[in-house]
Amino acid sequence: MQDVDALRNALLAQVEAADLDGLERLRVSELGKKGRITLLMRDLAGLDAQARRERGSHLNRLKEQVASALEARRAALADAALDARLAGESIDVTLPVRPEPQGRIHPISQTIDEVVAIFGEMGFALAEGPDIEDDWTNFGALNIPPEHPARQEMDTFYLPGERDGRRLVLRTHTSPVQVRTMRSQRPPIRIIAPGRTYRSDYDATHSPMFHQVEGLVIDRVIDMGHLKGCLIAFLRAYFALDDLPVRFRPSYFPFTEPSAEVDIGCAREGGTLRIGAGRDWLEILGCGMVNPVVLENCGIDPGQWQGFAFGMGLERIAMLKYGIPDLRTFFESDLRWLRHYGFAALEQPSLVTGL
Ligand code: DAH
Repeated sequence: MQDVDALRNALLAQVEAADLDGLERLRVSELGKKGRITLLMRDLAGLDAQARRERGSHLNRLKEQVASALEARRAALADAALDARLAGESIDVTLPVRPEPQGRIHPISQTIDEVVAIFGEMGFALAEGPDIEDDWTNFGALNIPPEHPARQEMDTFYLPGERDGRRLVLRTHTSPVQVRTMRSQRPPIRIIAPGRTYRSDYDATHSPMFHQVEGLVIDRVIDMGHLKGCLIAFLRAYFALDDLPVRFRPSYFPFTEPSAEVDIGCAREGGTLRIGAGRDWLEILGCGMVNPVVLENCGIDPGQWQGFAFGMGLERIAMLKYGIPDLRTFFESDLRWLRHYGFAALEQPSLVTGL
């Protein structure tokens, strides 16, 4: 048995001196399938019963001692490595957090939220329509026949293909949502419809894709006074100026009769524009009493129902309120622009009173 004791002493000393890799090598060379201890145990087969029993129990103890020494050394090395890492790495919980990049709310989204909130308080519901319209819904139903000059003025994007025999267009205004709403709902109706619109136009105040908000009110007794009161209240709330001067000027739209354009008071001095002050006027939106022809086109009896409608450009009112000089920059996706003109999610101005 002396050979086994000598082997034990040698192995335990080697285990104590080994690093993690050395431990693994020892495990394989001693206890593995062809390891030294495994082979010694295999040799037991050649001994007589008595010798086999004695040497067998000796070898078994040796095997257990080596295995548990390997495991103890492995655990000690792992603990020491962890202690060393913890000692080397210190976390200073008083350091400021690393700044996380924060998104900004695009001024158009902000403006839509404000407009929806103001009209929402007045009892308007939200309506929507598709960006791709047929030319009847975008033009014909709104009393704009094919030869009408308004079709040329609108620089329409026509699309290939048709729907129910009608040509497809990218809607040139949000007014087709009026048509969709009147054809699908019974009056009384009170909706606003913000959304994307398209015209082939590109300069500092035009972009081929832009946004409008449309409004429509249909009831039994609705007159020009309601129209004026509603729009004056909206403009004063949106620009947060209780005494904002508002002027209605006669105008023409095929879908309203009579029609008006609305101006707000401003001052243009030394290249700056101040809203609500001075003696100048700035055109801001179009409106009018819904043309009876349009009501009829949409299946509503003009003998019983009447109403008003309005439409305005959202970029335009955003530019005026937030001092943004060029409309094209809304859609250039320049992050510096968005950081400057955008809104932080948690710092939004009050939706109804503005900044
Ligand atoms: N659709 C018109 C445009 O795009 C704006 C407009 C004017 C809408 C008068 C209306 C309205 O509903 O009554 O220029």
